[in-house]
Amino acid sequence: MMNRLAINIAGLELSNPTMLAAGILGISGLTLSRVAKAGAGAIVTKSLGLQPRAGYPNPTIVQVESGLVNAMGLPNPGIEHFTQEIKFTRSVAPLIISIYAFSTDEFAIAAQKAVKIGADALELNVSCPHAKKTGADIGQDPKLLEEVVKATKRSVKKPVFVKLTPNVDSIVRSAKTAEKAGADALTAINTVKAMVIDIETAKPILSNKIGGLSGSALKPIAVRCVYEIFDAVDIPIVGCGGISTWQDAVEFLQAGASAIQIGTAIAQKGLNIFTQVNEGIEAFLEKKGFHSVKEIIGLSHKSK
Ligand SMILES: Cc1cc2nc3c(=O)[nH]c(=O)nc-3n(C[C@H](O)[C@H](O)[C@H](O)COP(=O)(O)O)c2cc1C
Repeated sequence: MMNRLAINIAGLELSNPTMLAAGILGISGLTLSRVAKAGAGAIVTKSLGLQPRAGYPNPTIVQVESGLVNAMGLPNPGIEHFTQEIKFTRSVAPLIISIYAFSTDEFAIAAQKAVKIGADALELNVSCPHAKKTGADIGQDPKLLEEVVKATKRSVKKPVFVKLTPNVDSIVRSAKTAEKAGADALTAINTVKAMVIDIETAKPILSNKIGGLSGSALKPIAVRCVYEIFDAVDIPIVGCGGISTWQDAVEFLQAGASAIQIGTAIAQKGLNIFTQVNEGIEAFLEKKGFHSVKEIIGLSHKSK
């Protein structure tokens, strides 16, 4: 029977357009494979670097009305340690390893190591809003972004997804820069810079003071970003930000995403969210007479 949800993104065959977003449950092989078994079309790891990193002291996450504000500081065991974890995830669903690094050369080395331990594709975290000399410090600088993407592309043959920050004047400019430098796909978006203050002590709650907002408040911003990027580039876009229902997913697909990532909503809805979203998209396609999810990608641009 034909699978209406199947989609190929930058050479990766996905059984459906849902993916786990980087940083949520992505630090252990067992949880990654649980997410894949729960129905995710692809899984993305927590961002990994060349060296193990402790991250920031607590508090690193605050719940707000509409989601979370986090400044974890990229805690991770380092790419090489992850070799042990990867064993649990092979062949369940395509594995995208998210990497971060502090220089162009380091990105190239990290990419090679990630491929060596089994990545089917890479996602470059050039968008973390609270890590210094990496993340958004790279994504906000067009020249550096170009160099990092070029160096990574030169170093590996696997598809390279570039995850963009919304904390810029023009995300379209970042998208075009990444595409020109050779990116195979774009992920939009990472969190929006945010802060929470405890009024009793008058102090910022996060130890890093500033973090990134995720969850439902992000959704209209992310939809706008995907919509604008779709008009400007030819490579596929993976939509991310505040998705918690199948209707949210359809909105992103219609804005121009070829797939979507789910992060914060997993904390509220559990892993069943992947099946719920997929079943909802499938029922919607059937009701509207579409034979494939591909038919609704960018549909909202046609109604201009
Ligand atoms: C606790 C937490 C940790 C995160 N860690 C990462 C990370 O390591 N790398 C990355 O690229 N994005 C990271 N993100 C951002 C998410 O992947 C995603 O872009 C963002 O949360 C928006 O999606 P959501 O609203 O579905 O969570 C993290 C988000 C949260 C809430």
